Amino acid sequence: MDTITLRRPDDWHLHLRDGAMLAAVAPDSARDFGRAIIMPNLVPPVVTGAQAAAYRDRIRAAVPAADFAPLMTLYLTEATDPADVVAAHAAGIITAVKLYPAGATTNSASGVRDFDRVRGVLEAMAEAAIPLLVHGEVTDPDIDIFDREAVFIDRVLDPIRRATPGLRVVMEHITTSEAVGYVRADTSGALGATVTVHHLVINRNHILAGGIRPHYYCLPVAKRETHRVALVDAATSGDARFFLGTDSAPHVDAAKETGCGCAGCYTAPVALPILAQVFEDAGALDRLEGFTSLHGPAFYGLAPNEARITLTRAAEPWSPHRKRSTAGGPVTVFDPGFPLHWRTNAPA
Ligand code: DOR
Ligand code: ZN
Repeated sequence: MDTITLRRPDDWHLHLRDGAMLAAVAPDSARDFGRAIIMPNLVPPVVTGAQAAAYRDRIRAAVPAADFAPLMTLYLTEATDPADVVAAHAAGIITAVKLYPAGATTNSASGVRDFDRVRGVLEAMAEAAIPLLVHGEVTDPDIDIFDREAVFIDRVLDPIRRATPGLRVVMEHITTSEAVGYVRADTSGALGATVTVHHLVINRNHILAGGIRPHYYCLPVAKRETHRVALVDAATSGDARFFLGTDSAPHVDAAKETGCGCAGCYTAPVALPILAQVFEDAGALDRLEGFTSLHGPAFYGLAPNEARITLTRAAEPWSPHRKRSTAGGPVTVFDPGFPLHWRTNAPA
């Protein structure tokens, strides 16, 4: 098969940042994606409906509205007002709420330390059917970084879900076979998971073997190969509980290539060409559209996009730009480590 036409994909987990970085990176997502769930971890974070509306307007100013719809989220803190969340959702300003355990990742200092303190918000969200998007890692320094997702499921996520029946939850950027198993075992119909492009492609050797490669460092950190294989199996299985969230997270090279580098892979410009290769290698190209364009809208109760996108496979690989230049310096585009034969019809 040399051509596939899909309903226009959506990105159910995206970091667009703000200011000059937003202006530089937003067109890369808008080229291939119809909608995206926009992460609220700005500095300071997006915590109120009014801030989400203002941020949405800044994104709309950076990309033509006809091409790309930002779906906004609020950053959950221990001070979040349930009434503000419900009102922002009812007004169509926000689509979901993001839970960062305090200290888990980039700009997560305002996240949640004591989960009992957000119980009222979670109950209001369950009532109003507002999804909770979860960064699933414990922050306990005694827990090994490669175990933090699996421990989070047992210690935090499962207790929250049991205490809040009906709460719709998306486990964001899952990285382990434990997370895949937890989603598969669910019978509530209220649980989904996003899978990134990079976690389908790299394992921890890519980061650490033969030299430290900061552009493969993200959070949750990539795990061993068996977990990557489990993620590919989940994404390509056709199970509608798994859908694409790139977690494309640009940082300028100076912030990545340093003694204490930031977490994040900038995958937006090459996400679909890489995914097409992953699905082709798995013999599952016929399931690509479900993962990129159908399962996510179904979880969120939205219609799939009407527009289509065509991917074409050429015998000769093409070379994507290796850097995206921004006013703050260059951002390195994710390198999957294999040649790209698939290409979207949109101008690169
Ligand atoms: O790798 C990551 N980068 N993981 C996150 O959870 C946050 C993101 C970012 O904002 O840079
Ligand atoms: Zn993220």
